[in-house]
Amino acid sequence: MSKTIIVSNRLPVRIAKENDEYQLKVSEGGLATGLGSIYKQGDNVWIGWAGLDVDKGDEAEITNKLKQENLCPVYLDPEEIQNYYEGFSNETLWPIFHYMSTYAQYEQVYWDYYQSVNEKFKKVVLEIAEPGDIIWIHDYQLLLLPQMIREALPNTTIGFFQHIPFPSYELFRLIPWRAELLNGMLGSDLIGFHTYDDVRHFTSSATRVLPIQTTANVIHKDDRNITIDAFPMGIDAKKFNDLTHTEAVLQEKEVYNQIIGDTKIILSIDRLDYSKGIIQRLLAFDKVLSENPDYIEKISMHMIVVPSRDNIPQYRDLRDDIDKLVGNINSRYRTPSWHPIHYFYRSFPIETLSGLYSRADICLVTPMRDGMNLVSKEYIASKTDETGVLILSEMAGASKELIEAIIVNPNNLGEMYRAIVQALEMPEEEKISRMKNLRETVMKFDINHWVKIFMDQLAAVKNHEKSRRAK
Ligand code: F6P
Repeated sequence: MSKTIIVSNRLPVRIAKENDEYQLKVSEGGLATGLGSIYKQGDNVWIGWAGLDVDKGDEAEITNKLKQENLCPVYLDPEEIQNYYEGFSNETLWPIFHYMSTYAQYEQVYWDYYQSVNEKFKKVVLEIAEPGDIIWIHDYQLLLLPQMIREALPNTTIGFFQHIPFPSYELFRLIPWRAELLNGMLGSDLIGFHTYDDVRHFTSSATRVLPIQTTANVIHKDDRNITIDAFPMGIDAKKFNDLTHTEAVLQEKEVYNQIIGDTKIILSIDRLDYSKGIIQRLLAFDKVLSENPDYIEKISMHMIVVPSRDNIPQYRDLRDDIDKLVGNINSRYRTPSWHPIHYFYRSFPIETLSGLYSRADICLVTPMRDGMNLVSKEYIASKTDETGVLILSEMAGASKELIEAIIVNPNNLGEMYRAIVQALEMPEEEKISRMKNLRETVMKFDINHWVKIFMDQLAAVKNHEKSRRAK
């Protein structure tokens, strides 16, 4: 019996030490839920970094705990975390792939560790994998892994999905190790991205950098065919829909209503990242207040920024910039009984987020660049009363599907300003009609649909390849 092995940089659990004992905290993330139907079955397994620097002596205890959940850890030491995770993944690939090339660092030591940590993942995969297994690798931290596994297990089925954008060739070519990265990815049978633009950019980079041939969306390399396709990722829409009716969430909403009454809420939720357009969003909100004094005390922004990658200088600088700008806006417009911006720099339980999503009149999602953006979909799935307006950046993959949102260019301050005013003034019937259509899309094309179409296509391309070789 063949098994399925999922591989990603992080495991779908958080490991924390409480009272001298390690505890596993299950992730609420969509990927964890969607792939739960796969990795929790039989001998299937999910391989990934345990997410913290573990003492050697504690590894056996953690490995045993994880094994009971069909999870298998890769342990990284502090140098590996610094050079592979913070370094190459997040100071080289992340800025280039998000079109922020001036932030990119091209350090040889980062590249050396990126290769050796991908090798480390390979070793763990090969301890478990057998010929005939299906291996599904996720995201930019593991671009070399498909080819490393292909060399060891030539006939195995390998799928790869990239959760962040793939940049245009003009950006990608800046990376000194561009050919090695492409060769690594092309060890797969199927490579998935969120959008057709990413597919196009990847194929264009591959054909310009490597001596390969293509036919439509298939790349021919070393007598192998690799299919490149778009699979827009969905969320666990039913979970977000159903949560809004739970006692815990109804109570959250009640508390908001008591505190803020009928103030209109503009919601903003992100991980701390310069790709998310948080500063641009604040500037647009500032303009709304400065040009429309009638909105004073009638609207407020609730902004949650979840701490992330805080060892990387640009993330620390961004946090300082946000602190300053929020302070500046609040000090200029606040009144004794009203704050323009309620800013939280921390994470919240899903019930609190659900309460905010379902209470928010507007959700402002304005990334400078985003592979998909799942916050926009979580907002829609939580609007069970079919009201609310989504303002969405055209630079997010989600904008290709969520066309009834107000679509904006986050670099265009005037357009963002007008979008917020349009959303605040939108007639109720228009809000409902837009939200109904948005909800149809989000509820139908959910995370389970995404997992199914990727796995079905992976099986189809492998069968096709097998019959081609048999001829
Ligand atoms: O979506 C991109 C991504 O890097 C995922 O791989 C990751 O789960 C998420 O963002 C959070 O990033 P990190 O693992 O660096 O905290």
